[in-house]
Amino acid sequence: MTNENELKFDTIALHGGQEIDPVTRSRAVPIYQTTSYAFDDTNHAASLFQMQEEGYIYSRNANPTNAVLEKRLAQLEGGVGAFAVSSGQAAISIALLTLAKTGDEIVATNALYGGTYNLFSETFLRFGITVRFVDGTDFHAVKKAINEKTKAVFTETIGNPGLQIADLKVLSRIAHEHGVPLVVDNTFTTPYLARPFEFGADIVVHSITKFIGGHGTSIGGAIVDSGKFPWDNGKFPEFTKTKASLNHHSFVELAKERAFISKARFELGHDLGSSLSPFNSWLFIQGLESLSLRVKQHVKNAEKVAEYLSQHEQVEWVNYPTLKDDPQYELAKIYLPKGAGSIFTFGIKGGLKSAKAFIHSVKLLSHVANVGDSKTLVIHPASTTHSRLSTDEQLESGVTPEQIRLSVGLEDIEDILADINQALQASREKQVN
Ligand SMILES: Cc1ncc(COP(=O)(O)O)c(C=O)c1O
Repeated sequence: MTNENELKFDTIALHGGQEIDPVTRSRAVPIYQTTSYAFDDTNHAASLFQMQEEGYIYSRNANPTNAVLEKRLAQLEGGVGAFAVSSGQAAISIALLTLAKTGDEIVATNALYGGTYNLFSETFLRFGITVRFVDGTDFHAVKKAINEKTKAVFTETIGNPGLQIADLKVLSRIAHEHGVPLVVDNTFTTPYLARPFEFGADIVVHSITKFIGGHGTSIGGAIVDSGKFPWDNGKFPEFTKTKASLNHHSFVELAKERAFISKARFELGHDLGSSLSPFNSWLFIQGLESLSLRVKQHVKNAEKVAEYLSQHEQVEWVNYPTLKDDPQYELAKIYLPKGAGSIFTFGIKGGLKSAKAFIHSVKLLSHVANVGDSKTLVIHPASTTHSRLSTDEQLESGVTPEQIRLSVGLEDIEDILADINQALQASREKQVN
C-alpha cells in the first residue's frame, strides 16, 4: 500500500493499521478473541515481558484486533501510538495517572463532562492528587494554577455541556512554558473535526463510545500519544529512570517517542486491567469506517436544529458556536472550520419546569445519558449528568436549570424538527415539578 503517512483521512479510516492476514487473506479485520499467545520459547517470552521486542503476551495488555483500532486512531489523530481501553473514563484515568502520583497536581479547565469532574474532584483527591479547576478562557488563572507539583493541563476540545471551545494554541503554550503536557479530551469533535496535536496538544483521550462507535452499542476509550513531548525534561523522572522490569532500561530508552503510550499500556493498563474486549474493538473499527460521512451529516442536521431553535418563541437562548452571533464564533472558525459537532444546549422559556416538560414530551428523541449516537438524544444536565455537582459547581461547569442538551442524530431533519416543535408546544402547556 502507499506510505500510510501520506494517506488522507477517509482512506485511513478504512485501511489504517490493518495488514491483510497472510494466512486467511481476510479482507475485514478479524476478531482475535483470545486471551493469550503462544511463545516460541522462554527467551522469546522473557524478551516480550521486558519490552525488548514487540509482540503479544496477554489480551489485557494488547490484542491484534485492538492493535488495528489503535493504529488507525493514532494515524487519524496524527500521533505515534494509541492504547484502546474499556471506556472514556478509563482513558482519562490511565492517561493522567501515568503522569501524576500522590502529592502531584493537575490543572483542568472547569467546563467538563460531569463524570470527569467527579473523577477529578473526588476519586483523584482520594488518591492524593489535587486537580485545580480553572476557567479555561482565563489564561492568567491557568498560569497561576500551575506550580512545581503540576504534571499536566487537561481540557476538553469543546466543554461538556457548556460548549466552551478550548484555545488549544494558548493552553499548550502555557503548559509547555511550565514543562508539562497538554492533555485534551477530543470526544465531542473526533479527529474529523479537530486534531488537537496540530495546535500543540501532547496527549489526546477519547470516549470512543460516542461518535467513533456511532451506533450506541459499545463502551470504549482511547489514549493517543503525539510522540512530541520531551519526557526527559527533568519533570518526569519515572520516564527516564531504569527499571528492573525493563531489563534495566527506561521507557524513554526503550520506547523513544512512544515512551508515554508504552508506559500507560505496560504499567497501568497491565495493573488496573481496563482492557477493551476485541469484539467491542471490532465494532469501533466498523464505526470508524463511516466516521467522516456520519459526522458531516451530524453537523448539517445540528446546524439546522440550532438555527430553528434560535428563532423559536419558546426558546430563551441557543449555545452553538457556529451560529453567527455566538460569542465563540471567531474561535470556532479557527479550531472547528468543518463545524462544531452535533452536541449543543439551549435554554427553554419557563426554566426548570418547562425543561422537564420538554423532556417528558419528546417522542422521536431519546432521553438517555449518552451523546454522539446516530439517533437524536436529549437530556437535562442539571438533574442527570451534572446532578452530583453542587449548584455552584454546576454553574461553574456551565450547567443551568433551564438548559437542555441535544445530541443531534442522523434521522431526517424534518422529523427531528417536528418532534422538537411539538415538545416545545407541550412544554408550554404542561410544566413538570
Ligand atoms: C467528553 C466526555 N469524555 C469522557 C466521557 C466518558 O466516556 P465513557 O462513558 O466512555 O466512559 C464522556 C461521557 O459522556 C464524555 O462526554
